[in-house]
Amino acid sequence: MKESEPTDDTPVLEAKNLYHVYTSNEEDGNVVALRGLSVSIKSGEAVAVVGPSGSGKSTLLKALGGLMKPSAGSVYLNGQNMTRITGSDLVRLRQETVSFIFQEGNLLPDLNALDNIAQPLRHSGVRGKEARKRAMEMLESLGIADRAYSLPPTLSGGEAQRVAIGRALITNPKVILADEPTGALDPITGRRIIELFRELNEESGVAFLIVTHSREISSFANRALELRDGRFVAQHGNDVDDLDLAATRELLIDDTGTLSMPPDMLATLGGPGRFEILDIERDSIRMERVDEERLQIDEGTEMKLAPACPACGYDYGNSSVEECPTCGATRPMVPSS
Ligand SMILES: Nc1ncnc2c1ncn2[C@@H]1O[C@H](COP(=O)(O)OP(=O)(O)OP(=O)(O)O)[C@@H](O)[C@H]1O
Ligand SMILES: [Mg+2]
Repeated sequence: MKESEPTDDTPVLEAKNLYHVYTSNEEDGNVVALRGLSVSIKSGEAVAVVGPSGSGKSTLLKALGGLMKPSAGSVYLNGQNMTRITGSDLVRLRQETVSFIFQEGNLLPDLNALDNIAQPLRHSGVRGKEARKRAMEMLESLGIADRAYSLPPTLSGGEAQRVAIGRALITNPKVILADEPTGALDPITGRRIIELFRELNEESGVAFLIVTHSREISSFANRALELRDGRFVAQHGNDVDDLDLAATRELLIDDTGTLSMPPDMLATLGGPGRFEILDIERDSIRMERVDEERLQIDEGTEMKLAPACPACGYDYGNSSVEECPTCGATRPMVPSS
């Protein structure tokens, strides 16, 4: 077997060390949207991506789907390095492997529902009649065959999204990338769409990477990745609650040894700083914040509480209070010699 030939264990989608910088001449300057991000999705796996607005979710999906070339890093589709191939080879690899569903704007407005679904097949070389026949079967399985000849602007949100799913599915992709696919739908329609994703995942083994704020999607996903500021900072098991991520977090340390921390955890730790390692073993690390004042002192200098208040001259005597009882000034530490 050739080295590049995919095996059963080959991830269907893998990204290594993705960076992306949006360059701009405007005042805000460049935006670093992805900062060394790696992810691997196995065949048949469903993965959710959660994270605040601006954290890089859409940028990640576009890079993974080949809609945008990341500034650095590699994307592998079914074991093949997508960042190395170009032209018709890239088009074919994408057509055979990956489909996209966005929140809105998935459909070509001038083609009816049937032709919207048939179009990706036509692009991959299937003849018109056959493509339309398969598109009609797809519409039937999605329960919207009666809207086959309607144009997208006349479809309801849920119908349009089902057509979009039909477009995404018709080429039998191994993985579907979906960017907030139920965000624009009412909750009931959204739930139906999620049910459809679940079925496709469980019965047909289609892998999913879904950007979502929906609890239900996170609950059908095998795991959820938490994105902050262009990095994956944590992973959650299934049934993650988007509003309380702290409850199910597992922190991630990447290949470079970098441990990034969600802001709420960092705040609990008392903010950025230096930490002394008290104890480290294979699966655990215990650390303690290094006192900043102690750090500024040359090694070997013994420190003690100031004997007198530097502000008002109050004599502390033998007391160990840390605030001056006369003027309220903080009692400093001074070298003991
Ligand atoms: N075309 C662009 N040009 C310049 N900056 C961009 C562009 N697209 C996105 N960005 C910036 O990159 C960062 C990541 O954006 P991205 O759209 O990936 O975030 P997101 O997580 O999808 O957010 P949301 O939840 O709001 O959709 C943001 O700071 C954003 O302003
Ligand atoms: Mg987005």
